[in-house]
Amino acid sequence: MTQRALRERIVRLREEIEYHNHQYYVLDTPEISDAEYDRLFSELEQLEAAHPELITADSPTGRVGAAPLAAFDSVTQRQPMLSLNNAFAIEGVEAFDRRVCVALGRSEIEYAVGPKFDGLAISLVYEHGLFVRGATRGDGYTGEEVTANLRTIRSIPLRLPAGCGAPSLLEVRGEVLMLHADFGSLNQRQQAQGEKVFANPRNAAAGSLRQLDPRITAGRKLTFFAYDVSGSEDWVAPEKHSQLIDFIEKNGFRVAQERAVVCGVAGLLGYYERIGATRADLVYDIDGVVYKVNSLAAQQQLGFVARAPRFAIAHKFPAEEATSVVLGIDVQVGRTGALTPVARLQPVFVGGVNVTNATLHNEDEVQRKDVHIGDTVVVRRAGDVIPEVVRVATPGPRRATDRFEMPALCPVCGSRVVRSADEAVARCSGGLYCSAQRKQALLHFASRRALDIEGLGERLVDQLVEQNLVRTPADLYALDEAALAGLERMAEKSATNVVAAIRKSRETTLARLIYALGIRNVGESTARDLARHFGTIEAIEQADAAALQQVPDVGPVVAQSLAEFFAEPHNLQVVHKLAQAGVRYAPAEPQRAATGGVAGKSFVLTGALPGMSREYAKALIEAAGGRVVGSVSKKTDYVVAGSEAGCKLEKARTLGVTIIDEQQLQALLVSSG
Ligand code: IVH
Repeated sequence: MTQRALRERIVRLREEIEYHNHQYYVLDTPEISDAEYDRLFSELEQLEAAHPELITADSPTGRVGAAPLAAFDSVTQRQPMLSLNNAFAIEGVEAFDRRVCVALGRSEIEYAVGPKFDGLAISLVYEHGLFVRGATRGDGYTGEEVTANLRTIRSIPLRLPAGCGAPSLLEVRGEVLMLHADFGSLNQRQQAQGEKVFANPRNAAAGSLRQLDPRITAGRKLTFFAYDVSGSEDWVAPEKHSQLIDFIEKNGFRVAQERAVVCGVAGLLGYYERIGATRADLVYDIDGVVYKVNSLAAQQQLGFVARAPRFAIAHKFPAEEATSVVLGIDVQVGRTGALTPVARLQPVFVGGVNVTNATLHNEDEVQRKDVHIGDTVVVRRAGDVIPEVVRVATPGPRRATDRFEMPALCPVCGSRVVRSADEAVARCSGGLYCSAQRKQALLHFASRRALDIEGLGERLVDQLVEQNLVRTPADLYALDEAALAGLERMAEKSATNVVAAIRKSRETTLARLIYALGIRNVGESTARDLARHFGTIEAIEQADAAALQQVPDVGPVVAQSLAEFFAEPHNLQVVHKLAQAGVRYAPAEPQRAATGGVAGKSFVLTGALPGMSREYAKALIEAAGGRVVGSVSKKTDYVVAGSEAGCKLEKARTLGVTIIDEQQLQALLVSSG
């Protein structure tokens, strides 16, 4: 074959294979037999093996899985991946619609509606039509790059069709999930091979996607459903969300066939009923439906509040329930000392998992629900939520000893249990003397959204605390392989890995660090607001109540929790020891509260930004009311510097103009949005 004929054949084969992929995996209407498909595929494989110089990033042969990675890179989301507010009852839906009507000054709203997929949120980036990067949602701001794994998913196009009106940069968001049939056969296979059997399709999808070896992912059949898209400024976006979905579908993505456009509350509730009735027939799991204001202009007008859009809501299906017998009621000690009564149950399969424990929340709830050991109770589990005891179905024999009583002393450390008059929660007064609290504090510190120390799980933390190797998070940084070597189930390699993970966690962000400290009432979103506002941990430490309450969403309760935390000498000591151990973060440019945000500000962009093109950054800034100018002057508010920034950066330094990076720009944009 001549070189030219060879190239043409390869291109032709790729097109044919992707055509059949689309027929099979997206449209569910295969046109050729598996054998014919395999023939095309192996011809392409052979040609590429003989001519590796002709392999391209969008070749379907790449779908069988690239070489394993050592770890996932993290990526900054171009725009944060937020979550949806939930409604569980009609009243919640009515209230949502009313708010939208009032905000838009209209009496009836058109909504785009669709199923709420129960999988993993994913973002896919296409540059000039080529799939270049895919990431998990992560904490919404940074996710893990799983491009190589996503390439193995046949319903994700590696290249967008030419001439389909796609802009130079397109971001498609959606959900990766496992279809029921694929889940069934995976579990059969796993069982036959004596491997782990997955409890539900969602866990199977998550487990398959978070594999460092893409060849494992390639062996698991995952499916991607798209539900949102955005593009660079050269894109003329349609006017409605429903048209966006049609556009993505035209570009080769799988979208929900059950989507619809409806009007008003009656339309929403009618759709909910319809989907609810057909839920069991769907080939994938859903946990509700999603309602979005259809007009994109109206969406923009409504905007966001905290971490969720005002223009959309998830209407969840009722959580699954089952009955089981209470074998005992234990008391668990949480990170803040809260004592939670937990019912130990005869194992029961509910909401996709085997449940052996269900929370009873607190003492008052046990009394109110009148739960005794030996009772048969209704247990509920929804999504990722902790299973709970809903009510007693049939009372048991109820001997005197079957009654639950909150112990007077902490079951772990023996400290007094206290309960203040205005609180439903009883707490162990032992503080960090209580090993249960220490363990929970360490687990929280190491958790994925906090300092993300892989391998520092429950079993290891139990041992570290029990053997007194670690008392506070700061002690983690003094651990070495030798200290870990003596512990149970700690092979040399895992000790090395844990030490490396601890070391790696020292480079973090201020938001994560604040969150990791486990200050009461300071969740992720508050931690992020505090970081953005104050810029350094010292500034937060020194802020008084009034200064703290300048931060969005920080009221007297949070301010009080912060004050209490930093008034405690041993907490201050931990913070200082962490710094001494080398835990550091890039100090954030504090947001200038009075003027804040992007609107009215002038920006100069220089160098290559890691996560977005300069054009795209410009579009974002302009959309938020800022200006992008070509050269730096004293009047420039911000210089956004990427890698290899040249003389503009120099000039900014000379003139003392504030220099920020992409992440800080994102933060500013978020605070403006
Ligand atoms: S729209 C601003 N549509 O639900 C958020 N989300 O709580 C816009 N999800 O993690 C999301 N199906 O991955 C949207 N049809 C759908 C969805 C959907 C599932 C997930 C999404 C996100 C979570 C939101």
